[in-house]
Amino acid sequence: MRRKLLPWAACALLLYLLALRNLHRPPTPAGRPAARFWKAPCPLRSLWSQDLLERQRRRRSVSRDRAPGCGPDRQVESRVADFQQLPQAVKDFLLYRRCRHFPRLLEPRGVCGRGLRLLIAIKSTASSFVRRQAIRQSWGGLGRASGVGLVFLLGVEEEADGHPGLAAQLACESRRYGDLLQWAFRDTFLNLTLKEVLFLPWLGRRCPGARFIFKGDDDVFVNTERLLDYLDGPEPGASPGPALHRSPDLFLGDAIFGAKPCRNPRLKYYVPGAFYNGPYPPYAGGAGVLYAGRLARRLERAARALPLFPIDDVFTGMCLRRLGLAPTAHAGFRSFGINESQRWEPCAYRRLLMVHGRSPQEVVLLWRMLHQGNLTCG
Ligand SMILES: *[C@@H]1O[C@H](CO)[C@@H](O)[C@H](O)[C@H]1NC(C)=O
Ligand SMILES: *[C@@H]1O[C@H](CO)[C@@H](O)[C@H](O)[C@H]1NC(C)=O
Ligand SMILES: *[C@@H]1O[C@H](CO)[C@@H](O)[C@H](O)[C@H]1NC(C)=O
Repeated sequence: MRRKLLPWAACALLLYLLALRNLHRPPTPAGRPAARFWKAPCPLRSLWSQDLLERQRRRRSVSRDRAPGCGPDRQVESRVADFQQLPQAVKDFLLYRRCRHFPRLLEPRGVCGRGLRLLIAIKSTASSFVRRQAIRQSWGGLGRASGVGLVFLLGVEEEADGHPGLAAQLACESRRYGDLLQWAFRDTFLNLTLKEVLFLPWLGRRCPGARFIFKGDDDVFVNTERLLDYLDGPEPGASPGPALHRSPDLFLGDAIFGAKPCRNPRLKYYVPGAFYNGPYPPYAGGAGVLYAGRLARRLERAARALPLFPIDDVFTGMCLRRLGLAPTAHAGFRSFGINESQRWEPCAYRRLLMVHGRSPQEVVLLWRMLHQGNLTCG
């Protein structure tokens, strides 16, 4: 008789303990998923921190991200204060922030392979034909003979945005140049992080031998030869010592330290406090950065562990911080351009690596001016 009672007693005790735990649980605020954060000593205020915790708790969430036709997260409407007042782009980001796997629509051909010293990956948009053409005809066009590869990273621009026939034009461009890498997500500013999150695994699988990566915008001028010289040897006049460009941690750019989120809803960099609070980690302006191919693998793993953040260069900064790294500032990276009085002075560009904010016409002309045999700089 006693033996039969024992399991029942154990069961009852367990039920009692469970009930007790529920009684002592603080009431959950509306919309917060219950029982998820009861271990946190203080409530996490920002959605990003909650997402981070959730992502770490469930390592398998990757398979959930992969769900085809990833839908909106409607819970966010009640989890973020004043959600309905947010700008539409921010709402879109928050609703779809968990969707990070998208099929490839166009793939480059013959870009990668043996002896690739530098892979240039340019964030472009489908309709920016002219900018891509200018880059191919100038600083991006050195070609495989110089060990340089070029790919353009694209999402999908909606035809409704006034570009009928865009897909057909792109397919033709892709057949002709074989340098387009396109995924099936809406190409918007707050979706730029997807280009990083999707490019890194592509790079690891298709271009594992690339020694260095330059990743930037399609309105930059790059002094490609100078960049290659930099990668080949120590800077002229640099003191002897471990050369940075040989480091597997190389991440170079216009580094920004101690930045804070922009809280002005009218600006495109706006990030609501309910989504993220606290300062940004050190990061390098996304107009153009240079990093070691070996770092790309580690960045990929770090990116997988972090929730998406809508500003792509800050997101990369977060990945670096997760790896215990920070970008290195290099004066040759000019995210904010150069002195206006020198805009057309080719000699001003000779020692620079990257200058942001140049039109396609300027890019082509500057490149020509820099390569005229008679160029003499003081
Ligand atoms: C990002 O792309 C996805 C997939 O196309 C889309 O649902 C979402 O609205 C986009 N987000 C933004 C901020 O545009
Ligand atoms: C730009 O160059 C001009 C003349 O070369 C100089 O007077 C001016 O101070 C410079 N401006 C800045 C912001 O460096
Ligand atoms: C260099 O040569 C080109 C023509 O080849 C000419 O148009 C240009 O003015 C010359 N520049 C200088 C600084 O002499």
